[in-house]
Amino acid sequence: MSAKIEVKNLVKVFGSQPRKALSMIEKGMSKEQILAETGQTVGVNDVSFTVETGEIFVVMGLSGCGKSTILRCLNRLIEPSSGSVLIDGQDITKLKARELRMVRQNKTAMVFQQFALLPHRTVLHNTVYGLEVQGVPKEQREKRARESLAMVGLNGWENSYPDELSGGMKQRVGLARALTNDPDILLMDEAFSALDPLIREEMQDELLKLQQAMNKTIVFITHDLSEALKIGDRIAFVRDGSLVQVSSPEDIINHPADAYVANFVRGVERSKVLLAKDVMGDTGSITLSDELGKAIQVMEEGGAAGVFVIDRDSRLQGVLTSETVFKAIKAGAVSIRELELIQVSAVSVETKIQEVINIIARSKLPLAVVDNENRLAGSIVHSAVLAALAGKGGEEDVPTTNWTTG
Ligand SMILES: Nc1ncnc2c1ncn2[C@@H]1O[C@H](COP(=O)(O)OP(=O)(O)OP(=O)(O)O)[C@@H](O)[C@H]1O
Ligand SMILES: [Mg+2]
Repeated sequence: MSAKIEVKNLVKVFGSQPRKALSMIEKGMSKEQILAETGQTVGVNDVSFTVETGEIFVVMGLSGCGKSTILRCLNRLIEPSSGSVLIDGQDITKLKARELRMVRQNKTAMVFQQFALLPHRTVLHNTVYGLEVQGVPKEQREKRARESLAMVGLNGWENSYPDELSGGMKQRVGLARALTNDPDILLMDEAFSALDPLIREEMQDELLKLQQAMNKTIVFITHDLSEALKIGDRIAFVRDGSLVQVSSPEDIINHPADAYVANFVRGVERSKVLLAKDVMGDTGSITLSDELGKAIQVMEEGGAAGVFVIDRDSRLQGVLTSETVFKAIKAGAVSIRELELIQVSAVSVETKIQEVINIIARSKLPLAVVDNENRLAGSIVHSAVLAALAGKGGEEDVPTTNWTTG
């Protein structure tokens, strides 16, 4: 991946004396102090981040923290006070009006919360609007509008009027309009926030599906953490105009940078975010060529009543319980190959805990976790899942495998 957008030391001060505020920012003073002393509002306070090509980069934070200001500085709908914004390596803060217009038209498109559809225009004519302004010939612009309407699932609705559409469908028209230019970058400001919860989830799914096909670079603003976790490849937390944390959804949940982020994370449905690898524990295992004595040793060391058996390439063969082992020893067996292994299912390290819960509920055995090459990576027990859901994740305190077969 390569950087599509690079934001460096971005500052936006609202007010008539930005200079004074800027020098206070340089001294590290807070938004509050600066407002009290100068009356200037710091919208964005020395923010730097990079958005990779094809990434969905979510910007999160409380109302008034500066999300929209950051987004609008990316295409200079709001003029940054200082700092730079590079798109494909080109610093757009240095562009003249004409060049800037080209970047806006060709590279970026915006989708807002309240999408102002023109009531007397059909869906199609609302969708072509941007192209019309640019002077794209009628036939061409309508062809492109039809294509993007089809992409967002609105074919058949071209000739309807906005008041015949539901909120979700109106938002789809907004998305279609943004897509008509085939922009590399989509800037979405609370695009789904006005929708009913179910429709909202539908739109999130739709966006993810579209993104698989389109591979745009998307900067998506929301104040809803579950939305951020669901669609974000990375999430940036903003507080009082400053970036507090930029991490993957898993990291946000497992390692919130401070109390502000932790506050958002509290109460989140961890089962939708955590992965098998986040809750799995170390697993003692033996290979098919080991002797039975080794099986007993591993079980004793782990305080366990069973052990995973793998082949030479670490691929899972099954489970051996202590009961089987002791019976076999009594019967004079020495090799593991002679014994019958219990066949167990395995999940990938990337499996969501939500799915793990369903599988583990049906089995008394620990659940094997395998990596992308199908090698045993660890295992998950009921108590580890419960601990993770209760917010006690973290590698240190994941319970180790505790086999109970009876
Ligand atoms: N045109 C403006 N003039 C003066 N202050 C502004 C202006 N626009 C925004 N601000 C201030 O800048 C700060 C950031 O506002 P911004 O709209 O970026 O917040 P936000 O995170 O998008 O909030 P919300 O979630 O409510 O949309 C706020 O303190 C706001 O009052
Ligand atoms: Mg906003």
